[in-house]
Amino acid sequence: MRLELRGVTKRFGDFTANDKIDLIVEPGSVHALLGENGAGKSTLMNVLFGLYDADEGEILVDGEPAGFKGPGDAMAAGIGMVHQHFMLVHPFTVAENVMLGHEEVRGPAKLLDLGNARKRVKEISDRFGFHVDPDAVVEDLSVGAQQRVEIIKALSQRAEILILDEPTAVLTPQETDELLAIVKQLRDSGTAVVLITHKLREVQAVADHITVIRRGKVVGTALPTASQEELASLMVGRDVSMTVDKPEAKPGDVMLEVESLTVLDEFDHPQLRNVSFNVRAGEILAVAGVQGNGQTELTEAILGVVPTAAGTVKLDGEVLTGKKIKDTLMSGIGFVPEDRTEDGLVAGFSIANNLILDIYDQAPYSKGGVLRPSVVVSEAEKNVEQFDVRTTGVHATAGSLSGGNQQKVVLARELSRPLKLLIASQPTRGLDVGSIEFVHKRIVQERDNGAAVIIVSSELDEVVALADRIAVMYHGKIVDIVPPDTDRDTLGLMMAGAHEEDAA
Ligand SMILES: Nc1ncnc2c1ncn2[C@@H]1O[C@H](COP(=O)(O)OP(=O)(O)OP(=O)(O)O)[C@@H](O)[C@H]1O
Ligand SMILES: [Mg+2]
Repeated sequence: MRLELRGVTKRFGDFTANDKIDLIVEPGSVHALLGENGAGKSTLMNVLFGLYDADEGEILVDGEPAGFKGPGDAMAAGIGMVHQHFMLVHPFTVAENVMLGHEEVRGPAKLLDLGNARKRVKEISDRFGFHVDPDAVVEDLSVGAQQRVEIIKALSQRAEILILDEPTAVLTPQETDELLAIVKQLRDSGTAVVLITHKLREVQAVADHITVIRRGKVVGTALPTASQEELASLMVGRDVSMTVDKPEAKPGDVMLEVESLTVLDEFDHPQLRNVSFNVRAGEILAVAGVQGNGQTELTEAILGVVPTAAGTVKLDGEVLTGKKIKDTLMSGIGFVPEDRTEDGLVAGFSIANNLILDIYDQAPYSKGGVLRPSVVVSEAEKNVEQFDVRTTGVHATAGSLSGGNQQKVVLARELSRPLKLLIASQPTRGLDVGSIEFVHKRIVQERDNGAAVIIVSSELDEVVALADRIAVMYHGKIVDIVPPDTDRDTLGLMMAGAHEEDAA
């Protein structure tokens, strides 16, 4: 099935998110859609999937006007979409989620029952080597497995065109490689895949065609042989440095002391085992590890978000353990959570209000217990400009922002007050290459202003680029803390637990 978009325009009020976009997607090919945060990629795909009505232009399927009135029509025509933020129902099983996905579809596919849904899941899972159990409850699955469930959901509607909107943003490098292999397999079986990603390595690995959009317009196409630098400058309209220029660290006194920290889960299984380390002022400690080896528990235990079974945390000589979370944050800690939609932002609040979530009662935002709206707005405008948040204004809701721009709001909030300690988990998740360059600079600046910095990242590139020291986590422990010039194979082995087995 061949798909063609002709002159598609989509406006939100006065703002033009897609401006006369032309795009052709051929069967049996992977079409990468690139562009900076807020360029209009997700919007365009939502138009294609029938979620938004285009204001102008048309969508042709095999040369015929498609006239989609909603996602049901798009699905019935053979288009499947995996959204940037997953849409699974967590307490339901995989098969139930797949069945639910069919209810919007008119026609025979609607009659899918649970028995059939289980069969379809198993068929597709076996065919593509997904290893997904139809009876597994979604909330018990890893993010990578949830991603595969979304793909199964789309494929179960016999999609001939599969739209993947930033499918790898939340995946580990291993899961990413598995997904890219799946994409190739789908292409070879005749499916057309539209892939949105900010990771240029992935584009080079699987794309047959590349279209770049900027501020709502197609600005060019590229061949998969293009270099990352060429793709990056086409995306953001200027040269982008792909490495971090970082002056030598000048570590000061110990700022954060973590001693014998232990966290148990609800079944008393240790998630964090007796972890001890220090971070000095003016130093970046980057935590490397395969997701799920205690990194989340470590950051949450330092903040006091999860109860600790043992151990203490001291910041600048003061014990944090046992304090209220708000008091902990107010003692000079900036925190960028790994999941911005769940823990970072209130979607229905304005950008301005999201920027002062925990500090609205502090100076300069309040005076004598009274909020000062004009200060809130002027500070918000400064932040929006500095972090290049693409929006119609600070009164727009956080929910109306593109994924990457939501992440920028969280970063702007956490980096805009004086910090003794910055803890950032996956700080550049979902950001475009230009914004990554900026955020990396800001993090180094925070270090050089004397903050202790902890970065948790599943991107080894990011760990190596930012770290003054690298802590490798495995099975809830820090197996070692090593210098940033440690070679990648050694890091990889440590992350896979080779140290532990040596010791055993
Ligand atoms: N429902 C909406 N209401 C108002 N504005 C919107 C809405 N959805 C998107 N926009 C605006 O349209 C622009 C394009 O957003 P879109 O989500 O398509 O970007 P994107 O290219 O997918 O970016 P990212 O890489 O960050 O995901 C953004 O500036 C966003 O603020
Ligand atoms: Mg998007």
